[in-house]
Amino acid sequence: MSILVTGGTGYIGSHTCVEFIEKGQEIIVLDNLCNSKVEVLDHIKTITGIKPKFYEIDLLDREGVKRVFEENDIDCVIHFAGLKAVGESVAKPMEYYRNNIVGTLNLVDEMRAHNCFKLVFSSSATVYGKPASVPIREDFPLSTTNPYGTTKLYIEQILKDLCVADKRFSVVLLRYFNPIGAHDSGLIGDNPNGIPNNLMPYVTRVAKGILPHLNVFGNDYETEDGTGVRDYIHVLDLAAGHYAALKALSEPGVSIYNLGTGNGCSVLDIIHTFECVNGIKIPYCIAERRPGDIAECYADATKAEVELGWKATRGLDEMCASAWNFEKNA
Ligand code: NAD
Ligand code: UFG
Repeated sequence: MSILVTGGTGYIGSHTCVEFIEKGQEIIVLDNLCNSKVEVLDHIKTITGIKPKFYEIDLLDREGVKRVFEENDIDCVIHFAGLKAVGESVAKPMEYYRNNIVGTLNLVDEMRAHNCFKLVFSSSATVYGKPASVPIREDFPLSTTNPYGTTKLYIEQILKDLCVADKRFSVVLLRYFNPIGAHDSGLIGDNPNGIPNNLMPYVTRVAKGILPHLNVFGNDYETEDGTGVRDYIHVLDLAAGHYAALKALSEPGVSIYNLGTGNGCSVLDIIHTFECVNGIKIPYCIAERRPGDIAECYADATKAEVELGWKATRGLDEMCASAWNFEKNA
């Protein structure tokens, strides 16, 4: 029996493939390579000794998805594939709704047609919108502030409705907080195209001299140092969270887990830790607040610890060191 990983050549998907292969699982990767490179598969082989079977297929290509299920005995799907840039989703909402939602509908329809009923879905802390308080628990109210977030919220609802209607399905919704860092080998990591939207890839490109300085979006939030606070989680801890989530797939219905550390960390904390751990100065300017940003967002990650036995173990030093180790080799 195999596990299908959609979006498996992407940032979080590639680290999760490594984790699963190292745990002895057979992995099949599906990706259309719209935001990743095929060479990632060679890097996975260098790290693990195994190159996963790969299908370059778009989830919007229903026939292609069908073929993957016809040619393989797939027991379970880990579904990462999707577009994820918040700003781009505001400019191109139709592309985001089509890609993320129709892609998921095609996937689930083909799962059902081939008697595959176990699904782990990459959701996001973005579904909590502007939370009334922190730390955020899984039962907090849901809302969104941009089309990307709306796709995550809609897909969560679609999968909840599916599980009500079809009791054979077992679905785990994993709400990620802010994944950063990279595999210790420096071979795989976060490598966005163009100018990064997210903080850590921006910092590493400033460190490398590709970008002149970092803009810190606002220093007048009600936080300890005035800059935005987030729950940064090492991507290897996040990958391990997916393996732990397999446990929840033995029960039918939907299970929901936050994957975060439970610790809030400011933009200035990231800059200072990065500088200290890597011995590189990060020039920065204080800029206007970024529209749509919130002051604080961090998880209550107790549920995943109690029910899945999973807990993030890596600290900010390791996250900053590994992110730089990847960028300087890229
Ligand atoms: P990523 O862009 O590196 O990986 C996503 C992969 O999906 C890419 O390789 C891309 O080529 C592929 N893809 C996109 N649309 C596809 C389609 N229609 N058919 C086939 N492949 C397609 O992103 P990531 O950071 O690894 O994120 C993985 C998932 O986690 C996404 O669903 C994202 O929304 C979610 N997530 C990410 C973060 C984050 O900060 N990185 C936070 C919360 C949730
Ligand atoms: N920031 C800067 N300068 C930058 C980039 C970011 O100061 O150049 C600040 C932001 O204002 C924020 C913090 O760094 O305070 C983190 O910003 P990111 O863009 O890295 O992450 P977000 O928390 O805004 O959003 C990310 C993903 C979303 C996901 C969310 C929760 O981009 O898709 O985490 O998981 F929904």
